[in-house]
Amino acid sequence: MELQDRRGIETDVYQPAEDSQLLADAVCERLGRDAGDTAEKRRTVLEVGTGSGYVADRIAEATDARVIASDLNPHAVRQARERGLETVRADLVSPFVDGAFDAVAFNPPYLPTEPDTEWDDWMERALSGGEDGREIIDPFLESVGRVLAPDGVVYLLVSSLTDVDAVAERAGEAGFSAAAVADHSFPFETLTVLELFR
Ligand SMILES: C[S@@+](CC[C@H](N)C(=O)[O-])C[C@H]1O[C@@H](n2cnc3c(N)ncnc32)[C@H](O)[C@@H]1O
Repeated sequence: MELQDRRGIETDVYQPAEDSQLLADAVCERLGRDAGDTAEKRRTVLEVGTGSGYVADRIAEATDARVIASDLNPHAVRQARERGLETVRADLVSPFVDGAFDAVAFNPPYLPTEPDTEWDDWMERALSGGEDGREIIDPFLESVGRVLAPDGVVYLLVSSLTDVDAVAERAGEAGFSAAAVADHSFPFETLTVLELFR
């Protein structure tokens, strides 16, 4: 059982990559102690879709915030918990109370995939964003505002493969203004971190 669980963790959990690092760097730069944080109360930060817990861990190290790491994938939740993070198994932000978070970060599944691709394993769910790459991003944008504090902020990793302008437009429809705060280009895509605020 133990062996099976460990094998599951290795194969079923997205491991940190360039996108994870770009998101972590951007959030730490914006919210970290070095940013001259003058917040009077301890902030609470949620990382949705935490995978291994790498991004949440980086935020916890760089800030004084209480960091919650959540994922739909139970193997990811376990792996993040083993890092010492406070974890919740959750579909996007559904279990969290209104206005709970000062910041929410998400590196979503964003790769455009063929309509007949079956979502039959956890790695598929970590990567696949449906036909236009926005199948998870759109419901996230529609729901994240509910759990944000009034002056809360969202950090969303997006790819040129997912159409950054379309994501920004959807964010606008959900009541957010969007600004690109970091990007990195690769031969096949450009990754951008959007900061969303109301
Ligand atoms: C691209 S991976 C990012 C993992 C990690 N945050 C990182 O940057 O290394 C996307 C993550 O989102 C999770 N995920 C997919 N759909 C989700 C949903 N509806 N609710 C919560 N998490 C979800 C996946 O299980 C996966 O861990």
